[in-house]
Amino acid sequence: MSQTIQLLQNRRTHYILAKSSPVSDAKIIELVEEALKHTPTAFNSQNGRVVILLHNHHDKLWQMTHDALKAVVPADQFPATAEKITAFADSYGTLLFFEDQAIISNLQEQFPLYAHNFPVWSQQSNGILQNNIWVALAEVGLGASLQHYSELIESAVREAWQIPDEWKLVAQMPFGQIVSEPDEKQYQPIEQRVKVFA
Ligand SMILES: Cc1cc2nc3c(=O)[nH]c(=O)nc-3n(C[C@H](O)[C@H](O)[C@H](O)COP(=O)(O)O)c2cc1C
Repeated sequence: MSQTIQLLQNRRTHYILAKSSPVSDAKIIELVEEALKHTPTAFNSQNGRVVILLHNHHDKLWQMTHDALKAVVPADQFPATAEKITAFADSYGTLLFFEDQAIISNLQEQFPLYAHNFPVWSQQSNGILQNNIWVALAEVGLGASLQHYSELIESAVREAWQIPDEWKLVAQMPFGQIVSEPDEKQYQPIEQRVKVFA
C-alpha cells in the first residue's frame, strides 16, 4: 500500500494520552511549521495560524477550559465534563488553530465576485491543515484529538497569549505520547461513498 495511505490510516482520535513525548519539543515545532507551510490555501492566501502550547502553557489552557465549562455546564453533569478535560490536561501539549480574518477581508475586497467563498475556503484549508499536522504527529508516535471549545475560551486565550484580534480560534488539538490504541473503526461501504465512471 502507498506510504501516504498508511500514514492516513495511522492517524486516529486518541483521548487518553501520556504527559510525555517520544520526540523533542524542537521536533514537534518543526513538524507543525512544515505542515503549515505545505498546506494549500485558497489563492495561496496562507491565512492558517497555529499556536503551540507546551508545559505550563498547555496546563493553563485546560485549567481555563475547565473553569469556563464549570460556569455553563449543569452541576450534575460537570463531573463527566471535568473528567474529559482532565484527560486533555494530562496530555503533553496543545495546538490552537486560528484563521487570520484580516487576510479573508482583504481578499473579499480584492475579489468581490468570490467574497462569499473566502470564509468557506478558509475553513476548508484549516481542516486540511489540522489533518496534515495530525498525520505528521501520528507518524512520530504522538496521538491527538480535535476539540472545539473555541467560543467558550477564545477571549481568555486571546488575553493569555496576546493573540491578535484578527486571529479567529477554530479548534484545539491536545496531543501526547500514545499509550493505548483506540477501538477499531467502523466504515460505511465504500461503494456508497465513491462513484466511478470509467
Ligand atoms: C471537523 C471535525 C470536527 C471534530 N470535532 C470533534 C470534537 O469536537 N470533539 C471530539 O472529540 N472529536 C472531534 N472530531 C473527531 C471525530 O469524532 C473523529 O475523527 C471520528 O470519530 C473518526 O475517528 P478517528 O479520528 O479515530 O478516525 C472531529 C473531527 C472532524 C473532522
